[in-house]
Amino acid sequence: MKQYRIAVIGGDGIGPEVTREAVKVLKAAAAADGGFAFEFTEYPWGCEYYTRTGEMMPADGIETLKDYDAVLLGAVGYPGVPDHISLRDLLLKIRHDFDEYVNLRPVKLLHGAPTPLKDVAPGDIDMIFIRENSEGEYSGQGAWLYPGTPQEVVIQDGVFSRKGCERVIRYAYELARKEKKTLTSVSKGNALNYSMVFWDQIFEEVGKDYPDVQTYSLLVDAAAMFMVRNPKRFQVVVTSNLFGDILTDLGAAISGGMGLAAGANLNPDKTFPSMFEPVHGSAPDIAGRGIANPFSAIWSASQLLDFFGHEDWGARVLSAIETLLTEKKTLTPDLGGTASTSQVGDEIARIISASCS
Ligand code: NAD
Ligand code: IPM
Ligand code: MN
Repeated sequence: MKQYRIAVIGGDGIGPEVTREAVKVLKAAAAADGGFAFEFTEYPWGCEYYTRTGEMMPADGIETLKDYDAVLLGAVGYPGVPDHISLRDLLLKIRHDFDEYVNLRPVKLLHGAPTPLKDVAPGDIDMIFIRENSEGEYSGQGAWLYPGTPQEVVIQDGVFSRKGCERVIRYAYELARKEKKTLTSVSKGNALNYSMVFWDQIFEEVGKDYPDVQTYSLLVDAAAMFMVRNPKRFQVVVTSNLFGDILTDLGAAISGGMGLAAGANLNPDKTFPSMFEPVHGSAPDIAGRGIANPFSAIWSASQLLDFFGHEDWGARVLSAIETLLTEKKTLTPDLGGTASTSQVGDEIARIISASCS
């Protein structure tokens, strides 16, 4: 029997609450299938760990995670620890050090999910964002000169390497080809005269190998507008790290909210573990109350199942979420229900257990 070793980092705030439900659902899928199993190991890393130890994770944290098949992460960041420390030293470090250069984020309006957009049906919002996840605006390079003086200067460098741009753009073309979908590149060459001109050039160059893929190129400001005015025009979307971050929160807003936004940080070469995590953060405003929506984390778990080749179970998990959304009996308060986080997880697990392989 295939055994997957999964490192679980619940992290901060609602992170551990929603991750617990994702684990529950993965266990249910494995038990129902009978052909594979998961072994979960929890790591208590995050802001609380930081306040005790001065570190977000131990110095050999990356080494510890390296041998797992995947990482399941909740959320990182909590008031009291500066975000640039907590995120840089844990979440962004894992994405970077494990070369998880593809951040795959579906923006899909599931049946029964609410949208603030008028005259929009589920099939009208069905995008898959491929966000560059290893460099770009998130390179972490720069300088802070003469701090606290009138000459103070801050420089935040973006790093766009040929290798880094090419590989993520090629991944997007491959996906668009495989799924027979259009591909939209989102950039900003009119203002960012080095990085985004380079990005656009590489998008065109790589495109020569994919004459069968219909492409579009949009400026990020226009893309934000079209996502609201005409979301149907987007299918596969490829964009830089920061633009992908912002546009996928907008994507969440039009397709059910932060409780319905999943993401996978993929190392497609499988040299290192990939990491699966919801798009949302630690939501300090609702943490500890048992009301966080676990759908994002559970949807990310379905991406984990897909990544390991169990697409049948990935699809069943997504369809179980859709069942709850349409029945409207077991939903958390953000979706107008009164159910708790664990009641939603239990119900999904029950549906999964009841399905046969
Ligand atoms: P957030 O996503 O945590 O919350 C934004 C809003 O959405 C809040 O009102 C929250 O209650 C709501 N929300 C989010 N997830 C929800 C869920 N599952 N169910 C119901 N409601 C949900 O964003 P924020 O408030 O800007 O950030 C809080 C902290 O999380 C910060 O420290 C930030 O840096 C961090 N953060 C971490 C990640 C991550 O680990 N991947 C992502 C985003 C933000
Ligand atoms: C996300 C988050 C992170 C990001 C933050 C917390 C660093 O917003 O996963 O979308 O910007 O990538
Ligand atoms: Mn974000």
